[in-house]
Amino acid sequence: MKKIAVITGASSGIGREFALQISRKYKSIEEIWLIARRTDRLEELKKEIHGKTVRILSLDLTDEGDIQLYKSLLERQNPAVRILVNAAGYGIIGHFNRLSYEENLGMIDLNCKALTAITYLTLPYMSHPSNIIHMASAAAFLPQPSFAVYAATKSMVLSFSRALNQELFDEGISVTAVCPGPVETEFFDIAEKHCKTKSYKNLFRVDAAHVVRKALLDAFYYKDVSVYGASMNALRTVSSVIPHSVMMPFLR
Ligand SMILES: NC(=O)c1ccc[n+]([C@@H]2O[C@H](COP(=O)([O-])OP(=O)(O)OC[C@H]3O[C@@H](n4cnc5c(N)ncnc54)[C@H](OP(=O)(O)O)[C@@H]3O)[C@@H](O)[C@H]2O)c1
Repeated sequence: MKKIAVITGASSGIGREFALQISRKYKSIEEIWLIARRTDRLEELKKEIHGKTVRILSLDLTDEGDIQLYKSLLERQNPAVRILVNAAGYGIIGHFNRLSYEENLGMIDLNCKALTAITYLTLPYMSHPSNIIHMASAAAFLPQPSFAVYAATKSMVLSFSRALNQELFDEGISVTAVCPGPVETEFFDIAEKHCKTKSYKNLFRVDAAHVVRKALLDAFYYKDVSVYGASMNALRTVSSVIPHSVMMPFLR
């Protein structure tokens, strides 16, 4: 069986960086499946990946028909999935009732429903040793006024990943939830559609390469959570110690 890596959200930012680093670091992986909607971006990325076969899957993961296409491809190819990265996701800043119905529900459809579907459909093709990496966020650590639905979707990803990591322990499959603070990507082009990020958050923006390097290392060591940087590790500790009701008025 062909050893492969599957990466969603590969057309930009963190997913793209995962594709590049996995292609360089994992010698045993023969083929990489890149998933996103923008085919031209995936074609450009393909040119930067050397020594592996690259399969481009132009899929809208919020479309059930496209999810079924992915399922059929797995059935036809019957690969051994060594790494699955679920990086497709987005957030839109703004008060819940000022975002549209589609914007609010769309975050749940992609960040939660599609991630769960891809993981469920891929798992039968995974066995020891293999890694699942889910992009959560530091926003998962506590509720975020003005980013309420996004933070809630990432709390779901964090909770789901940690529980699944335990369930799959005996099968030798790890699940790592990656929880970065702000990362320098196109994420903010969509996030700031209606409102700007709070300016203090820009001080913490980091490079995607660092986040991905740490995530791959943490997944290799079967860690359930990966947090890059002292400031986000501090936030994680503080938010587990200080009651959220005390912290949240400062976030408002
Ligand atoms: N950047 C940050 O500050 C930050 C911080 C914490 C967590 N995260 C999380 O990290 C993940 C990656 O974000 P990023 O920063 O790399 O953002 P990004 O550069 O905007 O990338 C998002 C990716 O998701 C894909 N995508 C969006 N809608 C899709 C759909 N319907 N079907 C398939 N693919 C879709 C996009 O591809 P197409 O548009 O081509 O479909 C793109 O490849 C997200 O889950 C995000 O929530 C980001």
